[in-house]
Amino acid sequence: MADKNKKLPLIEQVPVKKPVKKGLLDFVKMKRNGVPAAWITAYDLPFAYAAEKAGVDMILVGDSGGMVQLGYATTNPVTMDEMIILAKSARRGAPNTFLIGDMPQGSYEPSERDAVLSALRFIKEAGCDAIKCEGGQRIIPKVKAMVDAGILVMGHLGLTPQSTASFGGYKVQGKSVKSFDKTMEDALALQKAGAYALLLEAMPSEPAEQIAKELSIPVYGIGAGTGIDGQLVIMHDLMGFYQAFRPWFAKCYIPEVVQEFADYLKNLPDVRRIGRDERKDGLLVLAEMAIAKYVADVRAKQFPGAEYSYPIKKEELAALAASKYWK
Ligand code: KIV
Repeated sequence: MADKNKKLPLIEQVPVKKPVKKGLLDFVKMKRNGVPAAWITAYDLPFAYAAEKAGVDMILVGDSGGMVQLGYATTNPVTMDEMIILAKSARRGAPNTFLIGDMPQGSYEPSERDAVLSALRFIKEAGCDAIKCEGGQRIIPKVKAMVDAGILVMGHLGLTPQSTASFGGYKVQGKSVKSFDKTMEDALALQKAGAYALLLEAMPSEPAEQIAKELSIPVYGIGAGTGIDGQLVIMHDLMGFYQAFRPWFAKCYIPEVVQEFADYLKNLPDVRRIGRDERKDGLLVLAEMAIAKYVADVRAKQFPGAEYSYPIKKEELAALAASKYWK
């Protein structure tokens, strides 16, 4: 029988805590095991904190923060300095969650050197774990330079908001053979250049699923159906904070949890009994509940349902079968 009073050698007294932050290998494993990853954007401490508590797999400090947080009309004006401030705040709120910094327009296109230096700012100044940038074959030299510098790079294809002008506005992608083939070729080029993951934005479920199956790296989606390796949502869409523009895939989760929140409040002990610091009765709890419900729905492949996915007509789908990449 073990002697409880016997002193443990010093090394055994140090509590070995398994780090909770997920990393690259976890994401690959999740893809292999068919477990969808749930992630969300955050741009500040309170919401990043709520996201971490709710159990998201990753957080993106998106350049969408330029719109939903800073009030610009598009994502284009947001600067690298502004992104760093947002990313630092999010990191302080979620110290144990894989954090991705979104490269703003102008921070990576001019040269490979610009791309590496901007990406390193996210890593070194803000404590990000990876970066994301928009574009396919046209940015491959920059992706390779960042990967060579030891940076984890996520690609972003489909609807890429920084270049909406060249798409002729916010348009759903991947519905024609031309658009699908281009996205597939860009995706394969990004994978070959060393991108560790890919995000597809605004694409019907079927073509997005084909791309996710073709690639060995995780392929996530925002408005790209459920046949991929995980979902991203914009925090302000999930909370119902952003009213200027509501994309097809933007689901507000507050109505889903408001009853749970009301029941929770009813059962909270009186503040004089538990102390002010312990009484959690505000928006932070409601936000955490909403994000946790989203995470559960993603895991169960219930989000996005048909209501929040881009439809594709039967004829369009049949035409896609002519693509050499369609399986
Ligand atoms: O900036 C962002 O949040 C994004 C998503 C829209 C994909 O890039």
